[in-house]
Amino acid sequence: MEENRDQWGSRLGFILATIGSAVGLGNIWRFSYQAYENGGGAFLFPYIFALITAGIPLLLLEMGFGFFTRNSAPSSFRKVKEKFEWVGWWSVLVAFTVTVYYIVIIAWSLLFVFESFSLGWTADPEGFFFGEFLGFSGSAFTLGGIQWKIFFALLAVWIINYVIIAGGVEKGIEKASKIFMPLLALMVLIIVLRGVTLPGAMEGVKAFVTPDFSKILDFNIWVGAYGQIFFTLSLGFGIMIAYSSYLPKKSDVVKNGIIAGLANSIFSIVVGFGVFGVLGYMAQQQGVEIADVATSGIGLAFIAFPKAINLLPGLPQLFGFAFFFSLTIAGLSSSISLIESVVSSLIDNFSLSRKKAVTLVSIVGFILGVPMVTQGGLAILDIVDHFVNIFGLLLVGLIEMLILSYAFDLDKIKDNMNASSDLHVGNGWKAMIKFIAPVFIGIGFVQSTISELS
Ligand code: PFF
Ligand code: NA
Repeated sequence: MEENRDQWGSRLGFILATIGSAVGLGNIWRFSYQAYENGGGAFLFPYIFALITAGIPLLLLEMGFGFFTRNSAPSSFRKVKEKFEWVGWWSVLVAFTVTVYYIVIIAWSLLFVFESFSLGWTADPEGFFFGEFLGFSGSAFTLGGIQWKIFFALLAVWIINYVIIAGGVEKGIEKASKIFMPLLALMVLIIVLRGVTLPGAMEGVKAFVTPDFSKILDFNIWVGAYGQIFFTLSLGFGIMIAYSSYLPKKSDVVKNGIIAGLANSIFSIVVGFGVFGVLGYMAQQQGVEIADVATSGIGLAFIAFPKAINLLPGLPQLFGFAFFFSLTIAGLSSSISLIESVVSSLIDNFSLSRKKAVTLVSIVGFILGVPMVTQGGLAILDIVDHFVNIFGLLLVGLIEMLILSYAFDLDKIKDNMNASSDLHVGNGWKAMIKFIAPVFIGIGFVQSTISELS
């Protein structure tokens, strides 16, 4: 069985696929706003602290775990103790739930790629987005009125994912990552170069980076940084376990993990300059403050950016294309990893063929996504997102760390990882996993649950 397991064809392929998973919608629409709101340049202190004390250590833990067990999440946890298998299934369930709505958003991005050719979001992007595009009714209970354009885009995005994942680890995921990641880098280069050279851009960039040190004394900001690190590195979804289970025996897991972890953050910071350059330009054009135009999430991508693109001097279509195309490929390289977490678990546990497993996941995932392309779709998406934020992410990650620390032997993972790595993890790493990260993440979980519920 083991000999038949899929494998990455090259180290570069594995690193690109891992970065592809980590770099996603969140890097483009969440990080820069979070930094701006939480102290600008000063936010880098809690952010980098969280990256070093939790992000990279946990990334290495998940990678080392999958590399050690050579299995996807559920069977990996079963190897720790029979009774822990459910932790793996829980992370797979979270991955699947996120997939269902993450792919809906990729479908919107894909449609906006086409809208960008004609600036089809009109002079009133907000009205367009909620009106003609989503046909949003305002209530989760309006299941009528399928938005057919989005329906077919959703189908198309599932088919793209299906084809890539059915192709296998090396011939599908790795090959796609080798195409997507350079393309993404190119698109981001266009966005950033254009963004920072616009009139008024420097005002925006200043708002993004000017340190407000009074904010870093706020404990909540530190806890928020931990939450962001988790999502941004795709931790707690069983993805890194599955991806690393496909590594050849001789891989340098430690170095690969550190490279991927750093690349993800560098990507976020670089994109931040482009995003705030554009926001600075828009604020200047409209004669308003940066604070009046800065937002994050869906509002930034599908409303604020189209507004800004409308105002661009010279070839706004090219910029619009670069922006929505980068959202689309950043999203796709993350969605394939989410789906692979589910698919690899089905393959390992039910001896399904890869084709059968991907077919099953794609059909069920597509069907569950259909309510999200109706007139109530946005509200449903929101509810599912809240649900995942409460029961997913931090909670799974926390339990994962505690089990591997206290019901298993971290040294086994450590020694196995060190044996084939140039760089080594030591007692500092163990201390982060056993004590420091769980404390912050535990507090983060309690706090985010309270804020989600209120
Ligand atoms: N890391 C991705 C982002 O920052 O957008 C989101 C993500 C992708 C989270 C895949 C989890 C995941 F499994
Ligand atoms: Na990310």
